[in-house]
Amino acid sequence: MNRVRSGWATRSGFYMAAIGSAFGLGNLWRFPFVVGSNEGGAFVLLFVLCVLGVGLPVLVGELMLGKLTGQSAVNAIQKTSKDRKSHWLWVGRLSLLASVLIFAYYSVISGWVLYFLMQFLVAPIKGESFDTAVLFKRLMENGHLQLGLTSVHIVLVMTIVAKGVREGIEKWVKVTMPIFFVLLLFLMTKSLSLPGSERAIRFLFYPDFEKLTLTSFVQVLGHTFFTLSVGMGAMVAFGSYLQKETPTPRAGFMVSGLDILISLLAGLVIFPIVFSGTVEAEVGPSLLFETVPLLFSQMGLGNYFGFTFFLCLYTTALVASFGLLEASVSNLVDRYNFQRGRASQIMGVVVFIFAILPSLSSSVLQNVTFQGLSLLKMFDALLINWILPISAAGICLLVGYKLPEKTVRDEFVDERLVDSHQLYGLWRFTLRWLAPFLIFGALVAELFDIKS
Ligand code: PHE
Repeated sequence: MNRVRSGWATRSGFYMAAIGSAFGLGNLWRFPFVVGSNEGGAFVLLFVLCVLGVGLPVLVGELMLGKLTGQSAVNAIQKTSKDRKSHWLWVGRLSLLASVLIFAYYSVISGWVLYFLMQFLVAPIKGESFDTAVLFKRLMENGHLQLGLTSVHIVLVMTIVAKGVREGIEKWVKVTMPIFFVLLLFLMTKSLSLPGSERAIRFLFYPDFEKLTLTSFVQVLGHTFFTLSVGMGAMVAFGSYLQKETPTPRAGFMVSGLDILISLLAGLVIFPIVFSGTVEAEVGPSLLFETVPLLFSQMGLGNYFGFTFFLCLYTTALVASFGLLEASVSNLVDRYNFQRGRASQIMGVVVFIFAILPSLSSSVLQNVTFQGLSLLKMFDALLINWILPISAAGICLLVGYKLPEKTVRDEFVDERLVDSHQLYGLWRFTLRWLAPFLIFGALVAELFDIKS
């Protein structure tokens, strides 16, 4: 299979970009509240097992699909089949749909982060501190503001993606990731010195399996795919830029390991605050915004720390968004020969249209609910608990059954490593049998849960 693209400038550049795409609001904003609503420990354990046992194999599969074909999702799938109308193309189309809708939903939350960033920016100028719970409520009630912030985010991402992946992403991530990591470690030590820390650690790491429900399984799978950025074609696009020498399993392993680490770190920052009883935080999308700023209000130069935190958080959201938009843009470029700039503009407009509903869900459209879920929560549940797992299952089956065995084996196996052949066997078994079985099992369990 020929390779038509230029690779990443450096191998570390690729790693940073792939890690940058995986690391985002999923880790810091979504992970804590999903863990909270699933009652902690057992769910966290399930999550770690799920990332390593299911997410990692699918991630490697996606990267490989991109790397071996040198193409983005739909074209990559086309290349694996001789038939131009192959049913497998639906896997690519579904992943594309997922990337567009998830980007719309992601932009709304990125807009919230932008809002807090701006508040922390003006706070030192105004010389006053603010009550973040009140601030959050005000934002929720103001649909136009949310829509405005959402569009600012979409336009920013669009502009950067239009300039091309490599230049756009490499520069950003290299600077902000290490700063954010250090800042998170610092916040964790602050948070762990609060009186709620022991209960928080027990909550996070003591597994009480009775707390799991039928719906926990699909939630853990959906979150795994979301946080690793798989099932949306984003990693296929990244893989297609991967240089020949970079081993895909190693890249997948690094991304998954770091993703788990950062998610746990986020939990260790947020839950001690919750258990210290200083805030009445709701376990839902507001959790991050109602807890972390509290740490800043208790420390010297808090507003500056707050600003740095939200700046880093916004940067990760921005970089993760590149991956989401890149998935659809690279499809337009590869498949229909669009110019990059034009493709980014078109997709930006499409995403904006889809983002209107979730950004108005807590204000103008707050009465539109389904089974008690607001529009935003509905987006979340439908996309992450249903579309993503189905699309990920499709990718497993495609890589497991459609890619030529020998090519895949050659790509996976590294003769210098002792266990490489066994690992290959395990990986292939997971893609062909285990992961699809678990995913469909979890979806059936969810159906029963909805019915009962
Ligand atoms: N994984 C990102 C996060 O955790 C979200 C994302 C999904 C980014 C898909 C790119 C592609 O926030």
